[in-house]
Amino acid sequence: MRGASSGSSGRRVLVLGGASEIALAIVAELQRQAPREVALLGRDPEALARVAAQLREQGCERVVTAELDALDTDGHERAIAAAWEELGGVDLVIVAVGLLGERGTLLEDIPAALDVLRVNLLGTGSLTLRAAQRLREQGSGTLVVLSSVAAQRPRPTNVAYGASKAGLDALAQGLGVVLAPDGVRVVVVRPGFVHTRMTHGLPVPPLASTPQAVARRVVDGLDGRAAIVWAPRIMRLAMGVIRLLPRSLFRRIGG
Ligand SMILES: NC(=O)c1ccc[n+]([C@@H]2O[C@H](COP(=O)([O-])OP(=O)(O)OC[C@H]3O[C@@H](n4cnc5c(N)ncnc54)[C@H](OP(=O)(O)O)[C@@H]3O)[C@@H](O)[C@H]2O)c1
Repeated sequence: MRGASSGSSGRRVLVLGGASEIALAIVAELQRQAPREVALLGRDPEALARVAAQLREQGCERVVTAELDALDTDGHERAIAAAWEELGGVDLVIVAVGLLGERGTLLEDIPAALDVLRVNLLGTGSLTLRAAQRLREQGSGTLVVLSSVAAQRPRPTNVAYGASKAGLDALAQGLGVVLAPDGVRVVVVRPGFVHTRMTHGLPVPPLASTPQAVARRVVDGLDGRAAIVWAPRIMRLAMGVIRLLPRSLFRRIGG
């Protein structure tokens, strides 16, 4: 079996949202364990080419790229099938597409909020379902879905983002239950604030993290039996408390 020598996550990796900084760090961390073959799907061919070059420098055996727009849901099945064909099957799918969008302008800019819901819930949900379908047909593999702590309790500045991630998180958790009998594993990743271009220029909250730190948590989770990975680990406890705070107190501490 081709994936057997590469830890529990396998050798052939498909990244949906292929230019994501967190996804790149996860693949780099996997690559430190064993050589990988990688397909990067995303909407910006130049960005994908740059990421592919970095991965080749890090020793990835093979990196292919192809275009994918999360909003083109009609094209998802075909795009994922082509990547599957290219790699000869896929051991690990990383769903990394995400749009932060509105920052406290929910009702002032409803079209922007709808964009966030379309990309993060409808588009990314469609990608997640299509990838899950392929993994089930294959009868093996792991699906990693990048959710967020915002799925647990959105702040006034990221209501649409939090709502979209809550929907995606629930979808991924449910898929984990549905797919378990078919030998397919789903891992939901809930990072807090991570320093990437998505958060560039925003105020930095406590417990902020880096793509590399998130990647180490994800790979540890993949090597173990985790169904949910919090990054950093303390976020699980922090969000457990934050979820219980009354709304007035949540607002006062900057919620
Ligand atoms: N950074 C954080 O603080 C943080 C925290 C929690 C969760 N997350 C989640 O982690 C994931 C990765 O985020 P990141 O921090 O690595 O940010 P990132 O580098 O901006 O990655 C997000 C990726 O989503 C892609 N994308 C956005 N809209 C798309 C569309 N319509 N079609 C196809 N691709 C699209 C972007 O493509 P382009 O390259 O073309 O822009 C980008 O590659 C996201 O799901 C994010 O929500 C991030």
